[in-house]
Amino acid sequence: MMSENVAHSELDAIVDKATCQIEAAEAEAELEALRVAYLGKKGPITALLKSIGSLPADERPAAGKKITSSRNLLEDKIKRKRVTLQQIESARRLEAQRIDVTLPGRRYFTGGPHPLARTLARMQEIFLSIGFDIAVGPEIEDDYHNFEALNIPANHPARAMQDTFYFPDGRLLRTHTSPVQIRYMEKHKPPIRVVAPGRVYRCDSDITHTPMFHQLEGLVIDETTTFADLKGVLEYFVAEFFEEPLNLRFRPSYFPFTEPSAEVDISCVFCHGDGCNVCKRTGWLEVLGCGMVHPALYKDVGIDSERFIGYAFGLGVERFTMLRYGVNDLRLFFRNDLDMLSQFR
Ligand code: PHE
Repeated sequence: MMSENVAHSELDAIVDKATCQIEAAEAEAELEALRVAYLGKKGPITALLKSIGSLPADERPAAGKKITSSRNLLEDKIKRKRVTLQQIESARRLEAQRIDVTLPGRRYFTGGPHPLARTLARMQEIFLSIGFDIAVGPEIEDDYHNFEALNIPANHPARAMQDTFYFPDGRLLRTHTSPVQIRYMEKHKPPIRVVAPGRVYRCDSDITHTPMFHQLEGLVIDETTTFADLKGVLEYFVAEFFEEPLNLRFRPSYFPFTEPSAEVDISCVFCHGDGCNVCKRTGWLEVLGCGMVHPALYKDVGIDSERFIGYAFGLGVERFTMLRYGVNDLRLFFRNDLDMLSQFR
């Protein structure tokens, strides 16, 4: 009787303590350790089961039943606790992996054409639409095409108008697109109607000059070409480009390769002639040079200057781009600043 009571209260104490610890367990590993400690071969329950043999025979069945049921009870508690811990762990993992499918997706940065490329494309489109072809020439030129053939002989003062980048072998970076006039006339006979876009270079760098910039050259040669045709084409081009009719002003000027020559102003696209900062209060903006092709140019390319007559013009692409998009600093075109460039997408 005595021994049964002792075994009884000892068993209850073990079960109570184990129950407490099982409830408190926070991880499966901890739970497994408890299982081994209480129910393993060296645990107190096993020890009690072994001790049954020392009890009087009539007490054994009851003691055995009692211990076995306690063992089953603890096994059951551990099993339930394990399931609970597994559920908590899986809920925690799901929470950590949670994805908010309503969040906006990441945007890809898409590029776009550079404002100068866009302007050049627009300009070519306008001229193509009125029957011009596109011509190109090399950026590395020889003295002949850049100067000599354009009626600018060595020591001609006009050479000082353009500061030239020379290579050691005497070749140079073209200072204007006018050499394309010569190259085109070498290969094509009139009627000629072309524009030549491209990069040009001058040894010049300040707020309003960059060492590399772009020009668009125009050349038209036929039997009855007149200065009035030149005016008409330029007026049409300017109106198309700025999407509004603008007044043109022709001022007498000088270029060795045209005669007569003129510089062309357009009425200011910002103040329309009232006077503002951009036009320096004159109401006019100087945008291009032009004139009737000088007969001296025809000689070397074998065009009969008695039969054919033509005009040429050259415009600054940067200037037109600045006026069209309201860019106030030429150097912005060459800084590769994405904040600036992305506004043109
Ligand atoms: N080539 C000249 C320049 O760069 C522009 C021009 C071209 C003038 C054609 C007249 C005719 O300044």
